[in-house]
Amino acid sequence: MRENLIQLAYLVAVIGFGLSLYWMNSAKTARRGVLAGEIAFAIAIVATLAYPGVTGTGWVLIIIAIAIGTAIGIPLGLKVPMTAMPERIALSHAFGALAVACVGVAHYFLDWEHFGKFEIAVIGIEILLGGLVFTGSLMAAGKLHEMLPQRPILFAGQNYANFALIGVGLAIVAFLMFNPDQTWLIPVLACLALLIGVALIVPIGGADMPTVIALLNSYAGLSAAALGLVLNNKLLIVAGALDGTAGLILAIIMCRAMNRSFRNVLFGAFGAVDETAVEGGGDQGQVRSASTDEAAEIMKMARSVVIVPGYGMAVAQAQHKVRELADTLEAEGVDVKFAIHPVAGRMPGHMNVLLAEANVPYEKLLDMDEINADFPQVDVVLVLGANDVVNPSARHVKTSPIYGMPILNVDQAQCIMVVKRSMRSGFAGIENELFFNPKTLMVFGDAKQVVSELTLDVSGQRDAIGL
Ligand code: TAP
Repeated sequence: MRENLIQLAYLVAVIGFGLSLYWMNSAKTARRGVLAGEIAFAIAIVATLAYPGVTGTGWVLIIIAIAIGTAIGIPLGLKVPMTAMPERIALSHAFGALAVACVGVAHYFLDWEHFGKFEIAVIGIEILLGGLVFTGSLMAAGKLHEMLPQRPILFAGQNYANFALIGVGLAIVAFLMFNPDQTWLIPVLACLALLIGVALIVPIGGADMPTVIALLNSYAGLSAAALGLVLNNKLLIVAGALDGTAGLILAIIMCRAMNRSFRNVLFGAFGAVDETAVEGGGDQGQVRSASTDEAAEIMKMARSVVIVPGYGMAVAQAQHKVRELADTLEAEGVDVKFAIHPVAGRMPGHMNVLLAEANVPYEKLLDMDEINADFPQVDVVLVLGANDVVNPSARHVKTSPIYGMPILNVDQAQCIMVVKRSMRSGFAGIENELFFNPKTLMVFGDAKQVVSELTLDVSGQRDAIGL
Protein backbone atom coordinates (compact mmCIF):
# COMPACT_ATOMS: atom_id res chain seq x y z
CA MET A 1 0.00 0.00 0.00
CA ARG A 2 2.71 2.48 1.05
CA GLU A 3 4.78 1.57 -2.04
CA ASN A 4 1.76 2.19 -4.29
CA LEU A 5 1.14 5.59 -2.71
CA ILE A 6 4.79 6.52 -3.18
CA GLN A 7 4.65 5.54 -6.86
CA LEU A 8 1.40 7.52 -7.25
CA ALA A 9 3.07 10.57 -5.67
CA TYR A 10 6.02 10.14 -8.07
CA LEU A 11 3.59 10.07 -11.00
CA VAL A 12 1.97 13.31 -9.80
CA ALA A 13 5.46 14.85 -9.40
CA VAL A 14 6.42 13.83 -12.96
CA ILE A 15 3.22 15.42 -14.32
CA GLY A 16 4.08 18.54 -12.28
CA PHE A 17 7.60 18.68 -13.83
CA GLY A 18 6.12 18.32 -17.34
CA LEU A 19 3.55 21.08 -16.72
CA SER A 20 6.24 23.27 -15.18
CA LEU A 21 8.38 23.06 -18.34
CA TYR A 22 5.31 23.62 -20.53
CA TRP A 23 4.20 26.73 -18.64
CA MET A 24 7.71 28.14 -18.69
CA ASN A 25 7.37 28.41 -22.48
CA SER A 26 5.69 31.77 -22.14
CA ALA A 27 6.40 34.78 -19.94
CA LYS A 28 2.67 34.97 -19.11
CA THR A 29 2.57 31.51 -17.55
CA ALA A 30 6.21 31.29 -16.33
CA ARG A 31 5.33 32.08 -12.68
CA ARG A 32 2.78 29.27 -12.72
CA GLY A 33 5.51 27.03 -14.18
CA VAL A 34 7.88 27.85 -11.31
CA LEU A 35 5.13 27.15 -8.75
CA ALA A 36 4.23 23.83 -10.41
CA GLY A 37 7.93 22.84 -10.34
CA GLU A 38 8.21 23.74 -6.65
CA ILE A 39 5.10 21.75 -5.73
CA ALA A 40 6.30 18.77 -7.80
CA PHE A 41 9.68 18.87 -6.01
CA ALA A 42 7.99 19.03 -2.60
CA ILE A 43 5.80 16.00 -3.48
CA ALA A 44 8.87 14.11 -4.74
CA ILE A 45 10.86 14.84 -1.56
CA VAL A 46 8.00 13.87 0.79
CA ALA A 47 7.37 10.65 -1.19
CA THR A 48 11.07 9.74 -1.04
CA LEU A 49 11.16 10.37 2.71
CA ALA A 50 8.18 8.03 3.09
CA TYR A 51 10.28 5.06 1.87
CA PRO A 52 10.42 2.37 4.58
CA GLY A 53 14.25 2.38 4.47
CA VAL A 54 14.46 5.99 5.70
CA THR A 55 14.51 5.89 9.51
CA GLY A 56 16.25 7.28 12.63
CA THR A 57 19.66 8.72 11.77
CA GLY A 58 18.61 8.94 8.12
CA TRP A 59 15.82 11.34 9.07
CA VAL A 60 18.13 13.47 11.22
CA LEU A 61 20.74 13.72 8.45
CA ILE A 62 18.11 14.59 5.85
CA ILE A 63 16.61 17.32 8.03
CA ILE A 64 20.08 18.79 8.70
CA ALA A 65 20.79 18.74 4.94
CA ILE A 66 17.44 20.44 4.17
CA ALA A 67 18.13 23.09 6.83
CA ILE A 68 21.62 23.83 5.42
CA GLY A 69 20.27 23.93 1.85
CA THR A 70 17.44 26.28 2.84
CA ALA A 71 19.79 28.56 4.80
CA ILE A 72 22.00 28.93 1.71
CA GLY A 73 19.24 28.89 -0.94
CA ILE A 74 16.93 31.61 0.40
CA PRO A 75 19.56 34.40 0.72
CA LEU A 76 21.01 33.35 -2.66
CA GLY A 77 17.57 33.61 -4.28
CA LEU A 78 16.92 37.02 -2.72
CA LYS A 79 20.34 38.60 -3.21
CA VAL A 80 21.71 37.38 -6.55
CA PRO A 81 21.03 40.01 -9.24
CA MET A 82 19.41 39.07 -12.56
CA THR A 83 22.67 39.62 -14.48
CA ALA A 84 24.39 37.00 -12.28
CA MET A 85 21.69 34.36 -12.86
CA PRO A 86 23.74 32.21 -15.31
CA GLU A 87 26.53 31.72 -12.75
CA ARG A 88 24.02 31.03 -9.97
CA ILE A 89 22.46 28.34 -12.13
CA ALA A 90 25.94 26.95 -12.81
CA LEU A 91 26.49 26.65 -9.05
CA SER A 92 23.23 24.69 -8.66
CA HIS A 93 24.35 22.30 -11.40
CA ALA A 94 27.77 21.95 -9.79
CA PHE A 95 26.39 20.85 -6.43
CA GLY A 96 23.64 18.67 -7.93
CA ALA A 97 26.27 16.88 -10.01
CA LEU A 98 28.60 16.52 -7.00
CA ALA A 99 25.74 14.85 -5.09
CA VAL A 100 25.15 12.46 -8.01
CA ALA A 101 28.85 11.56 -8.22
CA CYS A 102 29.09 11.04 -4.42
CA VAL A 103 26.01 8.78 -4.40
CA GLY A 104 27.55 6.80 -7.29
CA VAL A 105 30.86 6.33 -5.42
CA ALA A 106 29.12 5.37 -2.15
CA HIS A 107 26.80 2.97 -3.95
CA TYR A 108 29.72 1.25 -5.66
CA PHE A 109 31.68 0.69 -2.46
CA LEU A 110 28.59 -0.51 -0.57
CA ASP A 111 27.21 -2.91 -3.14
CA TRP A 112 29.68 -3.70 -5.94
CA GLU A 113 29.52 -7.46 -5.25
CA HIS A 114 25.86 -7.51 -6.32
CA PHE A 115 26.28 -5.46 -9.49
CA GLY A 116 26.11 -6.79 -13.03
CA LYS A 117 28.04 -5.27 -15.95
CA PHE A 118 25.20 -2.90 -16.84
CA GLU A 119 24.96 -1.40 -13.34
CA ILE A 120 28.74 -0.93 -13.20
CA ALA A 121 28.76 0.80 -16.58
CA VAL A 122 25.93 3.10 -15.51
CA ILE A 123 27.60 3.95 -12.17
CA GLY A 124 30.89 4.60 -13.95
CA ILE A 125 29.21 7.00 -16.42
CA GLU A 126 27.36 8.62 -13.53
CA ILE A 127 30.65 9.30 -11.66
CA LEU A 128 32.32 10.52 -14.84
CA LEU A 129 29.48 12.91 -15.78
CA GLY A 130 28.84 14.02 -12.18
CA GLY A 131 32.52 14.81 -11.56
CA LEU A 132 33.08 16.68 -14.82
CA VAL A 133 29.87 18.71 -14.44
CA PHE A 134 30.95 19.65 -10.88
CA THR A 135 34.32 21.18 -11.81
CA GLY A 136 33.11 22.31 -15.27
CA SER A 137 30.21 24.26 -13.73
CA LEU A 138 32.44 25.78 -11.02
CA MET A 139 34.87 26.91 -13.75
CA ALA A 140 31.99 28.31 -15.83
CA ALA A 141 30.60 30.21 -12.82
CA GLY A 142 34.10 31.53 -12.01
CA LYS A 143 34.64 32.73 -15.58
CA LEU A 144 31.23 34.40 -15.78
CA HIS A 145 31.76 36.10 -12.44
CA GLU A 146 35.21 37.20 -13.61
CA MET A 147 36.89 35.43 -10.70
CA LEU A 148 38.81 33.39 -13.30
CA PRO A 149 40.37 34.75 -16.49
CA GLN A 150 37.69 35.06 -19.21
CA ARG A 151 40.04 34.56 -22.12
CA PRO A 152 40.28 31.07 -23.57
CA ILE A 153 43.55 29.33 -22.64
CA LEU A 154 44.71 27.42 -25.68
CA PHE A 155 47.65 25.14 -26.48
CA ALA A 156 48.57 22.90 -29.39
CA GLY A 157 46.85 19.51 -29.40
CA GLN A 158 44.43 20.57 -26.66
CA ASN A 159 41.38 18.89 -28.17
CA TYR A 160 43.33 15.64 -28.63
CA ALA A 161 44.48 15.81 -25.00
CA ASN A 162 40.87 16.30 -23.85
CA PHE A 163 39.60 13.41 -25.96
CA ALA A 164 42.43 11.26 -24.57
CA LEU A 165 41.35 12.07 -20.97
CA ILE A 166 37.73 11.14 -21.79
CA GLY A 167 39.01 7.97 -23.52
CA VAL A 168 40.96 6.96 -20.38
CA GLY A 169 37.82 7.54 -18.26
CA LEU A 170 35.70 5.33 -20.52
CA ALA A 171 38.45 2.68 -20.57
CA ILE A 172 38.43 2.59 -16.74
CA VAL A 173 34.63 2.12 -16.78
CA ALA A 174 34.99 -0.72 -19.32
CA PHE A 175 37.76 -2.35 -17.25
CA LEU A 176 35.63 -2.17 -14.08
CA MET A 177 32.75 -3.92 -15.87
CA PHE A 178 34.94 -7.03 -16.14
CA ASN A 179 36.95 -6.49 -12.93
CA PRO A 180 34.46 -4.99 -10.44
CA ASP A 181 36.67 -5.91 -7.44
CA GLN A 182 39.27 -3.31 -8.52
CA THR A 183 37.59 -0.76 -6.27
CA TRP A 184 40.74 1.41 -6.08
CA LEU A 185 39.87 2.55 -9.62
CA ILE A 186 36.74 4.37 -8.42
CA PRO A 187 38.63 7.25 -6.69
CA VAL A 188 40.93 7.38 -9.76
CA LEU A 189 37.85 7.67 -12.01
CA ALA A 190 36.37 10.39 -9.78
CA CYS A 191 39.61 12.45 -9.82
CA LEU A 192 39.93 12.01 -13.57
CA ALA A 193 36.33 13.25 -14.01
CA LEU A 194 37.15 16.37 -11.94
CA LEU A 195 40.20 16.99 -14.13
CA ILE A 196 38.19 16.54 -17.36
CA GLY A 197 35.69 19.18 -16.16
CA VAL A 198 38.51 21.72 -15.77
CA ALA A 199 40.23 20.74 -19.03
CA LEU A 200 37.02 21.04 -21.07
CA ILE A 201 36.22 24.58 -19.87
CA VAL A 202 39.76 26.06 -20.00
CA PRO A 203 39.72 26.60 -23.82
CA ILE A 204 36.26 28.23 -23.88
CA GLY A 205 35.94 32.02 -23.57
CA GLY A 206 33.88 33.58 -20.75
CA ALA A 207 31.26 34.92 -23.14
CA ASP A 208 30.36 31.43 -24.35
CA MET A 209 29.69 30.24 -20.81
CA PRO A 210 25.85 30.58 -20.94
CA THR A 211 25.71 28.05 -23.78
CA VAL A 212 28.20 25.79 -22.00
CA ILE A 213 26.12 25.99 -18.81
CA ALA A 214 23.03 24.83 -20.74
CA LEU A 215 25.09 21.92 -22.06
CA LEU A 216 26.45 21.07 -18.60
CA ASN A 217 22.85 21.19 -17.36
CA SER A 218 22.05 18.54 -19.93
CA TYR A 219 24.99 16.35 -18.74
CA ALA A 220 23.85 16.81 -15.12
CA GLY A 221 20.38 15.61 -16.14
CA LEU A 222 21.87 12.55 -17.83
CA SER A 223 23.96 11.71 -14.76
CA ALA A 224 20.82 12.01 -12.58
CA ALA A 225 18.95 9.69 -15.00
CA ALA A 226 21.87 7.22 -14.71
CA LEU A 227 21.57 7.42 -10.93
CA GLY A 228 17.84 6.67 -11.27
CA LEU A 229 18.67 3.54 -13.27
CA VAL A 230 21.12 2.38 -10.58
CA LEU A 231 18.73 3.09 -7.70
CA ASN A 232 15.75 1.79 -9.71
CA ASN A 233 14.03 5.11 -9.02
CA LYS A 234 11.63 5.94 -11.87
CA LEU A 235 11.18 9.54 -10.76
CA LEU A 236 14.92 10.22 -11.00
CA ILE A 237 15.05 8.62 -14.44
CA VAL A 238 12.19 10.79 -15.76
CA ALA A 239 13.33 14.00 -14.01
CA GLY A 240 16.94 13.44 -15.17
CA ALA A 241 15.81 12.78 -18.74
CA LEU A 242 13.63 15.93 -18.70
CA ASP A 243 16.53 17.96 -17.34
CA GLY A 244 18.94 16.43 -19.85
CA THR A 245 16.75 17.07 -22.89
CA ALA A 246 15.66 20.54 -21.72
CA GLY A 247 19.33 21.57 -21.31
CA LEU A 248 20.24 20.12 -24.69
CA ILE A 249 17.31 21.84 -26.46
CA LEU A 250 18.19 25.14 -24.78
CA ALA A 251 21.84 24.83 -25.87
CA ILE A 252 20.68 24.01 -29.45
CA ILE A 253 18.30 27.02 -29.49
CA MET A 254 21.10 29.30 -28.25
CA CYS A 255 23.54 27.97 -30.85
CA ARG A 256 20.96 28.32 -33.66
CA ALA A 257 20.05 31.85 -32.65
CA MET A 258 23.76 32.72 -32.76
CA ASN A 259 24.21 30.66 -35.95
CA ARG A 260 26.98 28.63 -34.30
CA SER A 261 27.54 24.92 -34.07
CA PHE A 262 28.19 23.02 -30.84
CA ARG A 263 31.63 22.23 -32.19
CA ASN A 264 32.30 25.91 -32.64
CA VAL A 265 31.21 26.73 -29.07
CA LEU A 266 33.10 23.86 -27.48
CA PHE A 267 36.26 23.81 -29.55
CA GLY A 268 36.49 27.25 -31.20
CA ALA A 269 37.73 30.20 -29.19
CA PHE A 270 35.19 32.92 -30.00
CA GLY A 271 37.37 35.60 -28.40
CA ALA A 272 40.11 34.92 -30.93
CA VAL A 273 38.60 36.90 -33.83
CA ASP A 274 40.50 37.61 -37.05
CA GLU A 275 40.48 41.41 -37.02
CA THR A 276 40.92 41.72 -40.78
CA ALA A 277 37.92 39.51 -41.39
CA VAL A 278 35.44 41.49 -39.36
CA GLU A 279 35.74 45.06 -40.42
CA GLY A 280 32.13 45.03 -41.57
CA GLY A 281 32.85 45.44 -45.26
CA GLY A 282 32.35 48.47 -47.51
CA ASP A 283 32.98 52.13 -46.79
CA GLN A 284 32.21 52.83 -43.20
CA GLY A 285 31.32 56.50 -43.69
CA GLN A 286 30.82 59.01 -40.89
CA VAL A 287 29.33 58.61 -37.46
CA ARG A 288 26.67 61.17 -36.51
CA SER A 289 25.88 61.77 -32.88
CA ALA A 290 23.03 63.61 -31.19
CA SER A 291 22.31 65.02 -27.73
CA THR A 292 19.43 63.66 -25.69
CA ASP A 293 17.25 66.75 -26.28
CA GLU A 294 17.73 66.42 -30.05
CA ALA A 295 16.88 62.73 -29.85
CA ALA A 296 13.82 63.46 -27.67
CA GLU A 297 12.51 66.04 -30.18
CA ILE A 298 12.66 63.46 -32.99
CA MET A 299 10.97 60.82 -30.82
CA LYS A 300 8.16 63.14 -29.84
CA MET A 301 7.36 63.76 -33.51
CA ALA A 302 7.33 60.03 -34.34
CA ARG A 303 4.15 57.99 -34.69
CA SER A 304 5.90 54.75 -33.78
CA VAL A 305 8.99 53.98 -31.70
CA VAL A 306 10.48 50.51 -31.34
CA ILE A 307 12.91 50.00 -28.44
CA VAL A 308 15.56 47.29 -28.97
CA PRO A 309 17.13 46.36 -25.63
CA GLY A 310 20.47 44.56 -25.39
CA TYR A 311 23.18 43.58 -22.96
CA GLY A 312 23.98 47.25 -22.19
CA MET A 313 20.47 47.78 -20.80
CA ALA A 314 21.08 44.89 -18.39
CA VAL A 315 24.50 46.26 -17.38
CA ALA A 316 23.03 49.71 -16.76
CA GLN A 317 19.94 48.24 -15.02
CA ALA A 318 17.95 50.71 -17.12
CA GLN A 319 14.75 48.63 -17.43
CA HIS A 320 12.66 50.71 -15.00
CA LYS A 321 13.75 53.96 -16.66
CA VAL A 322 12.90 52.42 -20.05
CA ARG A 323 9.38 51.68 -18.84
CA GLU A 324 9.05 55.33 -17.74
CA LEU A 325 10.24 56.52 -21.16
CA ALA A 326 7.75 54.22 -22.92
CA ASP A 327 4.90 55.52 -20.71
CA THR A 328 5.93 59.13 -21.36
CA LEU A 329 6.08 58.61 -25.13
CA GLU A 330 2.68 56.92 -25.09
CA ALA A 331 1.26 59.86 -23.15
CA GLU A 332 2.46 61.99 -26.10
CA GLY A 333 0.49 59.73 -28.49
CA VAL A 334 3.47 57.70 -29.75
CA ASP A 335 3.00 53.96 -30.33
CA VAL A 336 5.79 52.13 -28.44
CA LYS A 337 6.83 48.51 -28.83
CA PHE A 338 9.86 46.43 -27.82
CA ALA A 339 11.73 44.16 -30.23
CA ILE A 340 13.38 41.18 -28.53
CA HIS A 341 16.19 39.21 -30.15
CA PRO A 342 16.44 35.60 -28.87
CA VAL A 343 20.08 36.01 -27.78
CA ALA A 344 20.06 39.66 -26.72
CA GLY A 345 21.93 39.92 -23.41
CA ARG A 346 23.77 36.96 -21.98
CA MET A 347 21.14 34.36 -21.15
CA PRO A 348 17.95 33.05 -22.71
CA GLY A 349 15.02 35.35 -22.01
CA HIS A 350 17.35 37.95 -20.43
CA MET A 351 15.48 40.94 -21.88
CA ASN A 352 12.01 39.47 -21.27
CA VAL A 353 12.84 38.93 -17.59
CA LEU A 354 14.23 42.44 -17.10
CA LEU A 355 11.32 44.13 -18.85
CA ALA A 356 8.81 41.96 -16.97
CA GLU A 357 10.52 43.05 -13.73
CA ALA A 358 9.81 46.65 -14.79
CA ASN A 359 6.16 45.72 -15.52
CA VAL A 360 6.34 46.33 -19.27
CA PRO A 361 3.16 44.62 -20.57
CA TYR A 362 3.92 41.28 -22.31
CA GLU A 363 1.89 42.25 -25.40
CA LYS A 364 4.34 45.09 -26.07
CA LEU A 365 7.26 42.64 -26.36
CA LEU A 366 7.56 41.32 -29.90
CA ASP A 367 9.86 38.48 -30.94
CA MET A 368 12.22 38.96 -33.86
CA ASP A 369 9.98 37.02 -36.26
CA GLU A 370 6.91 39.03 -35.26
CA ILE A 371 8.47 42.47 -35.79
CA ASN A 372 11.15 42.13 -38.45
CA ALA A 373 8.82 42.74 -41.41
CA ASP A 374 7.46 45.94 -39.77
CA PHE A 375 10.74 47.87 -39.44
CA PRO A 376 10.41 49.79 -42.77
CA GLN A 377 7.19 51.36 -41.37
CA VAL A 378 8.76 52.26 -38.01
CA ASP A 379 9.61 55.96 -37.55
CA VAL A 380 12.25 55.62 -34.82
CA VAL A 381 14.18 52.64 -33.49
CA LEU A 382 15.91 53.16 -30.15
CA VAL A 383 18.75 50.61 -29.85
CA LEU A 384 19.52 50.49 -26.15
CA GLY A 385 22.82 48.81 -25.31
CA ALA A 386 22.38 46.27 -28.11
CA ASN A 387 25.10 45.74 -30.69
CA ASP A 388 25.64 42.33 -32.33
CA VAL A 389 21.91 41.55 -32.56
CA VAL A 390 21.39 44.60 -34.83
CA ASN A 391 24.61 44.36 -36.88
CA PRO A 392 23.69 44.21 -40.61
CA SER A 393 27.08 42.68 -41.46
CA ALA A 394 25.62 39.37 -40.20
CA ARG A 395 23.73 39.27 -43.50
CA HIS A 396 26.57 39.72 -45.97
CA VAL A 397 30.10 39.67 -44.47
CA LYS A 398 30.93 36.01 -44.93
CA THR A 399 34.09 36.16 -42.83
CA SER A 400 32.28 37.71 -39.84
CA PRO A 401 31.88 35.47 -36.76
CA ILE A 402 28.19 36.41 -36.71
CA TYR A 403 27.63 35.74 -40.44
CA GLY A 404 24.26 34.00 -40.84
CA MET A 405 22.98 34.98 -37.38
CA PRO A 406 19.44 36.31 -37.83
CA ILE A 407 19.34 39.95 -36.74
CA LEU A 408 16.68 42.55 -36.00
CA ASN A 409 16.30 44.57 -39.24
CA VAL A 410 16.54 47.94 -37.47
CA ASP A 411 18.54 49.41 -40.38
CA GLN A 412 15.29 49.42 -42.39
CA ALA A 413 13.58 51.87 -40.01
CA GLN A 414 13.24 55.57 -40.95
CA CYS A 415 15.52 56.76 -38.15
CA ILE A 416 17.84 54.75 -35.88
CA MET A 417 19.14 55.95 -32.52
CA VAL A 418 21.85 53.93 -30.81
CA VAL A 419 22.48 54.43 -27.09
CA LYS A 420 25.85 53.16 -25.85
CA ARG A 421 28.86 54.58 -24.07
CA SER A 422 31.44 54.44 -26.87
CA MET A 423 32.19 52.98 -30.30
CA ARG A 424 33.43 49.76 -28.64
CA SER A 425 32.31 46.43 -30.00
CA GLY A 426 29.92 43.99 -28.35
CA PHE A 427 30.24 40.33 -27.44
CA ALA A 428 31.46 39.19 -30.88
CA GLY A 429 34.29 41.76 -30.85
CA ILE A 430 33.42 43.21 -34.27
CA GLU A 431 32.63 46.60 -35.72
CA ASN A 432 28.96 47.41 -36.38
CA GLU A 433 28.17 48.99 -39.75
CA LEU A 434 24.83 50.18 -38.37
CA PHE A 435 26.69 52.93 -36.49
CA PHE A 436 27.90 54.35 -39.84
CA ASN A 437 24.47 54.25 -41.51
CA PRO A 438 23.42 57.78 -42.63
CA LYS A 439 20.06 57.21 -40.86
CA THR A 440 21.79 56.46 -37.53
CA LEU A 441 22.29 58.89 -34.66
CA MET A 442 24.58 57.80 -31.84
CA VAL A 443 23.50 59.02 -28.39
CA PHE A 444 26.57 58.35 -26.27
CA GLY A 445 26.25 57.65 -22.54
CA ASP A 446 25.23 55.14 -19.92
CA ALA A 447 21.86 53.63 -20.91
CA LYS A 448 20.15 54.49 -17.60
CA GLN A 449 21.38 58.07 -17.62
CA VAL A 450 20.49 58.65 -21.28
CA VAL A 451 17.01 57.15 -20.93
CA SER A 452 16.32 59.23 -17.81
CA GLU A 453 17.30 62.38 -19.70
CA LEU A 454 15.24 61.37 -22.73
CA THR A 455 12.18 60.95 -20.48
CA LEU A 456 12.68 64.40 -18.97
CA ASP A 457 13.12 65.92 -22.43
CA VAL A 458 10.11 64.16 -23.95
CA SER A 459 7.86 65.19 -21.07
CA GLY A 460 9.24 68.75 -21.10
CA GLN A 461 10.11 68.48 -17.40
CA ARG A 462 13.73 69.43 -18.00
CA ASP A 463 12.67 72.80 -19.41
CA ALA A 464 10.17 73.20 -16.58
CA ILE A 465 12.81 72.74 -13.88
CA GLY A 466 15.31 74.82 -15.85
CA LEU A 467 18.01 72.19 -16.42
P1 TAP B 1 26.45 43.00 -27.24
O1 TAP B 1 26.66 42.74 -28.68
O2 TAP B 1 27.28 42.27 -26.26
O3 TAP B 1 26.63 44.58 -27.05
C1 TAP B 1 26.32 45.19 -25.85
C2 TAP B 1 26.66 46.66 -25.98
O4 TAP B 1 26.19 47.27 -24.79
C3 TAP B 1 28.15 46.93 -26.06
O5 TAP B 1 28.53 47.26 -27.37
C4 TAP B 1 28.38 48.07 -25.06
O6 TAP B 1 28.94 49.19 -25.74
C5 TAP B 1 26.98 48.43 -24.57
N1 TAP B 1 26.94 48.72 -23.15
C6 TAP B 1 27.53 48.06 -22.13
N2 TAP B 1 27.28 48.65 -20.97
C7 TAP B 1 26.49 49.72 -21.25
C8 TAP B 1 25.89 50.73 -20.46
N3 TAP B 1 26.05 50.78 -19.13
N4 TAP B 1 25.13 51.66 -21.09
C9 TAP B 1 24.98 51.64 -22.42
N5 TAP B 1 25.53 50.70 -23.22
C10 TAP B 1 26.27 49.76 -22.63
O7 TAP B 1 24.93 42.78 -26.80
P2 TAP B 1 23.67 42.25 -27.60
O8 TAP B 1 23.41 43.06 -28.82
O9 TAP B 1 22.60 42.11 -26.57
O10 TAP B 1 24.10 40.83 -28.13
C11 TAP B 1 24.26 39.73 -27.28
C12 TAP B 1 25.51 38.98 -27.69
O11 TAP B 1 25.78 37.99 -26.68
C13 TAP B 1 25.34 38.26 -29.02
O12 TAP B 1 26.54 38.27 -29.75
C14 TAP B 1 25.00 36.83 -28.57
O13 TAP B 1 25.37 35.89 -29.55
C15 TAP B 1 25.86 36.71 -27.32
N6 TAP B 1 25.37 35.67 -26.39
C16 TAP B 1 24.10 35.69 -25.98
C17 TAP B 1 23.63 34.69 -25.16
C18 TAP B 1 22.17 34.71 -24.77
S1 TAP B 1 21.46 33.31 -24.50
N7 TAP B 1 21.52 35.83 -24.67
C19 TAP B 1 24.49 33.69 -24.70
C20 TAP B 1 25.83 33.73 -25.10
C21 TAP B 1 26.25 34.74 -25.95
P3 TAP B 1 29.78 50.29 -24.93
O14 TAP B 1 30.86 49.56 -24.21
O15 TAP B 1 30.28 51.21 -25.98
O16 TAP B 1 28.83 50.96 -23.99
